[in-house]
Amino acid sequence: MCGIVGILGTAPVAESIVEALKRLEYRGYDSAGIATLEGGHLTRRRAEGKLKNLELRLSEAPLEGVIGIGHTRWATHGRPSEANAHPHASDRLAVVHNGIIENFRELREELKGKSYTFTTETDTEVVAHLVSAEMRKGLDPVDAVAAALPRLKGAFALAFLFEGVEDLLIGARQGPPLAVGWGADEMYLGSDALALAPFTDVITYLEDGDWVVLRPGRAEFHDEHGNIVERVKQRTVAGALLVERGNHRHFMAKEIHEQPEVVARTLAHYLDMLQGKVRLPFEFPFDPNALDRITITACGTAYYAALTAKYWFERFARLPVEVDVASEFRYREAPLPERGLMIVVSQSGETADTRASLHYARTQKQHILSVVNVPSSTIARESHIVAPTLAGPEIGVASTKALTCQLAVLACLALAVGRARGKLSAEEEFRLVNELILLPGLMADVLNHEATIEQIAHSFAKVQSVLYLGRGTNYPLALEGALKLKEISYIHAEGYAAGELKHGPIALIDEVMPVVVIAPSDRALEKTVSNVQEVAARGGRIILIGDARAAQEAAVDLSGFVEMPAMAPDFAAIVYALPVQLLAYHAAVFMGKDVDQPRNLAKSVTVE
Ligand code: G6P
Repeated sequence: MCGIVGILGTAPVAESIVEALKRLEYRGYDSAGIATLEGGHLTRRRAEGKLKNLELRLSEAPLEGVIGIGHTRWATHGRPSEANAHPHASDRLAVVHNGIIENFRELREELKGKSYTFTTETDTEVVAHLVSAEMRKGLDPVDAVAAALPRLKGAFALAFLFEGVEDLLIGARQGPPLAVGWGADEMYLGSDALALAPFTDVITYLEDGDWVVLRPGRAEFHDEHGNIVERVKQRTVAGALLVERGNHRHFMAKEIHEQPEVVARTLAHYLDMLQGKVRLPFEFPFDPNALDRITITACGTAYYAALTAKYWFERFARLPVEVDVASEFRYREAPLPERGLMIVVSQSGETADTRASLHYARTQKQHILSVVNVPSSTIARESHIVAPTLAGPEIGVASTKALTCQLAVLACLALAVGRARGKLSAEEEFRLVNELILLPGLMADVLNHEATIEQIAHSFAKVQSVLYLGRGTNYPLALEGALKLKEISYIHAEGYAAGELKHGPIALIDEVMPVVVIAPSDRALEKTVSNVQEVAARGGRIILIGDARAAQEAAVDLSGFVEMPAMAPDFAAIVYALPVQLLAYHAAVFMGKDVDQPRNLAKSVTVE
């Protein structure tokens, strides 16, 4: 997490750095800072809290330098405070860092022995002093960084600025992403292409282990052994992608409302709408008939997309699927079948645990297929096949449109694998593809019921806890509903498989705690209705998300009813995701929470 920027400019850069940091704020927002060179001297402004505090500081005390670095922080070591805010400085340089220096304690002791004093609680400060120590030995900045980098253990993207050196920035990458941007007269460093989009669309990504020396108009790339290497320039589309809120109050609202459009766009990429068939934009580099099993891994909301896909792959492709959260999978040393298929799901394509799981799967000789929203991301680049979700940039920290697009892609993949394995007939494919085609229209329909959902959500404001129940593909959605509510409203919530109600959570039922039941008309409806009645029999407060038939069959007093249009059950979870997201959104807005930047969270989790 954390976002970093560097600009080697021709005019004062502070304002541009702030602009880039705004586009990186999704990576962390507990403090921010900028360093530039003024008359060759390092000058810094830092502020605790959101970027607007830094902007205020800069308006009182502007920075004039034409070269600079900036940072927006998600705290790992040391609380969010001005002292712990980046850039961190030593006597000859300043540095910004995204990641964790795992051996910082050891380095700190060593550097204290060399009479360096530490003024922060961060791991990053050792990097500044370590490079400074190399410079005190007589090395120039480039050689000093080259000497210091091999001593750092852990994950990092770094940008360095040197006292008295007006024409040099150095960047380094081991783990978290870092990109070089090529401007007309200026050079840039940034955590992603989106941050640099206002300035350039020509980008070069650093490979893992690379470091780069930026001078006006040129960049010299080095690999982890110090060899000078070529890295390709690419044109990105990031600049064309809007990152404005439009008429919406929050990015999250905008992204929820974009779903009919982006799911339609994503489906169009994978379906032949005219023929009613799946048409993948790539060939499988393996024989789906030879697969014994699929393994899927992801984190957070993407993990719930993976859990949903398990139902589809098992049903339509008759393939056993194992799903695990990446933070567990990476350390489990799970035996994987020879040349099996590993699917990784990630909005950002940068999540550290997901990447590590991918690396493990590569050592096990798996075919790696990634479902990612950022096509230029590290995970995409490290995969054998990339199945893009075409959700566009997702800025709200709580994932919404990325989820439904991931589900759309995974559904298409399950059908394609099912067809290739002869487990799904052409007629079934036709029927299911037509169900997929109807989803965007159904989603748009649901958005028309927002006012009812909002009313219900307001009633959450005074409760301590909310229970979400669902069966089948709506069980992962119940987990997602609870996650969404926790993330942005800070109300405790739990998701449960409805059938598990009687094995524990039923003890929680009282007249206060809302129980959200996700109940499309599917083959489990009868059973889910029984669970609704069990809750009602104990005086529980039921909020039903279902169609008219579900409400009729439940035949109990409901404290809230979100009436959904009738639809086929197979992919209903993709449509039912919307009321679940809106419930969380409106509860949080009503409670005055910062829905786009909830406390303690970050969107791109590049540390373990
Ligand atoms: C963070 C975000 C979640 C996201 C998860 C996985 O926790 O706040 O919204 O689902 O990371 O991120 P990824 O980019 O891998 O999908």
